[in-house]
Amino acid sequence: IEYHVIVLAAGQGKRMKAGKNKQFIHLQGQPLIVHTLENFVKDDWCKAIYIVISESDQAEMRALLKNYSWSEQIHFVSGGKERQDSGYQGIKAIQPDRPDDIVMIHDGARPFVGKEHLHQLAVIAKEAKAALLAVQVTDTIKQKKAEGIETLDRSVLWAAQTPQAFHYNVIKKAHEMANEQQFLGTDDASLIEEYMPEVQVEIVEGSYQNVKLTTPEDILRAEMILNKRGEA
Ligand code: CTP
Ligand code: MG
Repeated sequence: IEYHVIVLAAGQGKRMKAGKNKQFIHLQGQPLIVHTLENFVKDDWCKAIYIVISESDQAEMRALLKNYSWSEQIHFVSGGKERQDSGYQGIKAIQPDRPDDIVMIHDGARPFVGKEHLHQLAVIAKEAKAALLAVQVTDTIKQKKAEGIETLDRSVLWAAQTPQAFHYNVIKKAHEMANEQQFLGTDDASLIEEYMPEVQVEIVEGSYQNVKLTTPEDILRAEMILNKRGEA
């Protein structure tokens, strides 16, 4: 199964407090965004890679990626104000061969997604039209009530990750409708849940290693994951 991927890198990385977009932070000598992109460059199911980047980071990103043999494969798209706007820009840039081509949307800040998970996700999304990687919640989650709290049933709670994968026509339609109605969801799958209830989004169980690097502590965690991989 072939797929297109949109890699979102148009944020500012404010919570990382690095004074620049976190995509440029080095992990074991290599920029975060390069670790992320290489997962897709190395996957022969991936037929097109779109990086979404803000206007202000575009020149630096182009110059950086030029150092890699695969840089010609990467299409550049300008991002938007919110993550969802950047995703929508990416979708509009894709030229699918068929309406049911698979489009994955992935956070540039998630460098550790594994090939088996990409393939499982593509297979399920082809069939179901929409799917995402997620892991079971390990914490006990409490819900605040008007009076007191309640404990939620952990066995049905999942923490959503990316990539999330969709048929091109389905995710395009959902983004168009959200854009029209100024609906801001928390991830791409939530737009399908909101506007296309006839599509049942499938969960594909992912890995706890597929973390998003958000705060400075996450960099230490990332270095540990990379070290462990180096030993294996
Ligand atoms: N992203 C994007 N366009 C935006 C906002 C976010 O493409 N307008 C991307 C980020 O670059 C990141 C991914 O979406 O790879 C997940 O977002 P997040 O972790 O929140 O990254 P930032 O928005 O960069 O960080 P922060 O919220 O701390 O500023
Ligand atoms: Mg953000």
